[in-house]
Amino acid sequence: PRAHIELDRQAVIAPVRRRTFGSFVEHLGRCVYTGLYEPGHPSANDDGFRMDVVELVRELGSTTIRYPGGNFVSGFRWEDSVGPREERPVRRDLAWRSLESNQVGLDEFARWLKLTDSELMLAVNVATRGILPALDLLEYANHPSGTALSDLRVANGTPEPHNVRMWCLGNEMDGPWQTGFMTADDYGKMAARTAAAMKRADKDLELVVCGSSGSTMPTFGDWERTVLEHTYDHVDYVSCHAYYQEHDGDLGSFLASAIDMDYFIDTVVATADHVGHKKRSRKKIDVSFDEWNVWYLKEHQESEKIHDEWRHAPRLLEDTYTVADAVVVGNLLMTLLRRSDRVTSASLAQLVNVIAPIMTEPGGPAWRQTTFYPFSITSRLASGEVVRPLIEAPTYDTARYGEASVVDAVATVDEDRAAVFLVNRDLAEAARVTIDVRSFGSSRITEAVTLADSDVYAKNTLARQDRVIPAANAGAALADGLLTIELPPTSWTAVALR
Ligand code: AHR
Repeated sequence: PRAHIELDRQAVIAPVRRRTFGSFVEHLGRCVYTGLYEPGHPSANDDGFRMDVVELVRELGSTTIRYPGGNFVSGFRWEDSVGPREERPVRRDLAWRSLESNQVGLDEFARWLKLTDSELMLAVNVATRGILPALDLLEYANHPSGTALSDLRVANGTPEPHNVRMWCLGNEMDGPWQTGFMTADDYGKMAARTAAAMKRADKDLELVVCGSSGSTMPTFGDWERTVLEHTYDHVDYVSCHAYYQEHDGDLGSFLASAIDMDYFIDTVVATADHVGHKKRSRKKIDVSFDEWNVWYLKEHQESEKIHDEWRHAPRLLEDTYTVADAVVVGNLLMTLLRRSDRVTSASLAQLVNVIAPIMTEPGGPAWRQTTFYPFSITSRLASGEVVRPLIEAPTYDTARYGEASVVDAVATVDEDRAAVFLVNRDLAEAARVTIDVRSFGSSRITEAVTLADSDVYAKNTLARQDRVIPAANAGAALADGLLTIELPPTSWTAVALR
């Protein structure tokens, strides 16, 4: 197929938001324990954090990190995870049927965030606790000193407040799997009261209320409307969560997953604006797309066997990603960028070992999954403003999402540089693409990389950690403001210009 893309420097959607490149660390499986934290590992620092993982996180270019859950947060008592480590209790985590040792908690995690240059986005347990524990955590985390809980933080070895700006009011409260899940009405009332109380302590907090756990939830749409009717004046973001996978060998639909993400965002924004109009409010609620990824959830649910053994840091949700998965991840990230007008924060779920771009082996190496590459390269190259691409490309029919463009793209442009991100969803043929970048004023290509493979199911594993890596797209050329490039079948590409 052939495609043509018009890029106009003036057709700005929104600034590139650094928070689009957020990620997520949950106390789940081996994300924390033997993932980012492993005392005794050859690369561990004095806190027990694996520096090989820190290096990879820095290379990934993730920004805001959501913590400590996820479903985990709905059974969590934050007080368990601070203070002398030897006094911290071991608890049962009902969400993942695991044991939680509490050896890593808020203060340690905040130190880890400093190593990775990341911002903390903290979730409070509104499912099985209440307003006061949320206020207590806020005091512990953010109050400078001179109160019981801020002084406790100081005594625990953290003199400076963590100054957490973004807070999630629970997690996936629409999901029957959530410990303490609620109806939209009950959750909306609870979240409104919690948010109002938290803002009484600090009016500048940025609060995220739970939206739907996916666009296929039976309550999707009505959930957002009801919850926002209660919380509109008190919150700043509504969350979206979405996971995609290939179903029954239908790779064509899977590669078009970004269409669902777009639909999801459209619907949530329309619903939020509808509630805003009803309230005659001038305020806009943004989307925090704070869980998104490829996840082989169906296989996970089918393989889930009830086990009576309560294990600490079991191997859970350790999906190994393919080239096709990386193309989808790259395309989802392009979609988030293209919706930067209203999606101003997002979190790739998750960061290490658990449906993650980074894998580790206890006592052994850490390596990059296929999905690592589109994320890290996009985070590195996207800057300035996102511009709307006009794409002329053939389409194909998908069983799940209807008509899909064979080529999808987004571009960003800054004062002295620009970048174009592309996918070719054609399973068999290369796409020849011309891109009009005259309005960018760029004179040369500084980088052109493509992720593709003759085996779209190729993966990186412990045994072959570099089986899949991006390669230079040697054919990319720029002449008279026209960029020409060939995109291999089922591929993701980035081109940087100056
Ligand atoms: O990211 C894994 C899980 O997916 C999270 O704990 C939960 O919020 C979602 O269902």
